[in-house]
Amino acid sequence: MSNHEHHETAHRPVQRKEMSRRQFLSYTLGGTTAFMVGGAVLPMVRFAVDPLLEKKGEGTWVKVVEASKITNEPQEFKFQIHQVDGWYVSDPELAAWISKDANGEIFALSPVCKHLGCTIGWNTKGKNEYDCPCHDARYTKDGKNLAVAPNPLDEYEVKVEDGTVYVGPIKANSRV
Ligand code: FES
Repeated sequence: MSNHEHHETAHRPVQRKEMSRRQFLSYTLGGTTAFMVGGAVLPMVRFAVDPLLEKKGEGTWVKVVEASKITNEPQEFKFQIHQVDGWYVSDPELAAWISKDANGEIFALSPVCKHLGCTIGWNTKGKNEYDCPCHDARYTKDGKNLAVAPNPLDEYEVKVEDGTVYVGPIKANSRV
């Protein structure tokens, strides 16, 4: 390259790369479309995923009955719980057999038979035991399995506050 040519190149004005009208329209339309689709889809994704991120109602206590009504003789009390399982929300009614032990401590047993899940009843045969009508399983007042059922009745967590009995999550029987 001669000196003259080099001189000309150095003084040529810098060429800007201009955006064509077509490119400008594609970018604008693409951006607007992405914004609108995002605005419509994100709430749906949030709606779909949200229940899975919510904490389950574990550890919640349900008010059941005044403590003064609890006797040594087991009585059945019904209560409702509020449960959220993914998208499914329900308020099933549950039951507990609640009584006092020899030390005056209140405890609550699940009414679900540990054989095949029928509902047990207290003293239905006059023997001061829990009996299951399905296949004759029997349990003591503490829920100890005496016949047919392989395990003791489950127990509810119990607390007494301001003269009221609350039941909490179900747990394995801790009394037998
Ligand atoms: S379900 Fe209770 S004895 Fe079978």
